[in-house]
Amino acid sequence: MQPAQPIGVFDSGYGGLTVLKEIKTKLPQYDYLYLGDNARAPYGSRSFESVYRYTLECVQWFFKKNCPLVILACNTASAKALRTIQQKDLPKIAPHKKVLGVIRPTTEIIGNFTKTNNIGILATNGTVQSASYLVEINKFFPGVKVVQQACPMWVPLIENNEHNSRGADYFVKEYLDSLLTKNNSIDTVLLACTHYPLLKNKIAENLPGHISVISQGEIVAGSLAGYLKRHPEIEKECSQNGQTDFYTTDAAEDFDNHATVFYGKPIRSKYTEL
Ligand code: DGL
Repeated sequence: MQPAQPIGVFDSGYGGLTVLKEIKTKLPQYDYLYLGDNARAPYGSRSFESVYRYTLECVQWFFKKNCPLVILACNTASAKALRTIQQKDLPKIAPHKKVLGVIRPTTEIIGNFTKTNNIGILATNGTVQSASYLVEINKFFPGVKVVQQACPMWVPLIENNEHNSRGADYFVKEYLDSLLTKNNSIDTVLLACTHYPLLKNKIAENLPGHISVISQGEIVAGSLAGYLKRHPEIEKECSQNGQTDFYTTDAAEDFDNHATVFYGKPIRSKYTEL
């Protein structure tokens, strides 16, 4: 048996850091390996085929590093690539390893937040087109009405550190108005993109006060804790020294300059090829 190894956490860029931050708060004892595919981000407007191919390459990178478990901390990758990877690729390339996403843990509980049974989903084009949230929420909460709004300008604004600018004000208002026009009984809005927590305050300010804005980090962290309890065979393969290493497919210096705002503290990353 090989020695225990870190849990892999993946995003197209920086967004997954908002999830990793919460995972580390909940489960500080484990080791983590973070990979941002910054060289090819954003994924949100890319085709199914590209998102699947890029995500699979990154998952294989984690496997080369011997991670027993990989979390796709990216809704776009979870929506467009996870199922194929789990069903088609894993049995062939790594039958004993696990890849989990962020959509299932979120849709399992999101219906508990709404009193009016109306939920709004804010996400990338790719996540919206996949209809994953509509299908999954309907499985767990068939009585809940779900409307979606794609917000294609938000990730580029956030990745370029423009999320506090007047440009961001404009596009936050634009997409929220459009969401509420589709359904004005919404009382719960889900940030279904791991980048969006950076806009959370601005989003809340631009919505009526009775609407709750939910981000996924804590939900995913709670779900991972439950998963590791239910799967001791995976848990024992996860090393526990409280260490985290960060990798990016683009310039490490750029990653470090941007990452603090997502992660809440300074990061020293390393460049990697896939
Ligand atoms: N953070 C990713 C997500 O949760 C999307 C970012 C991107 O478009 O690459 O969907």
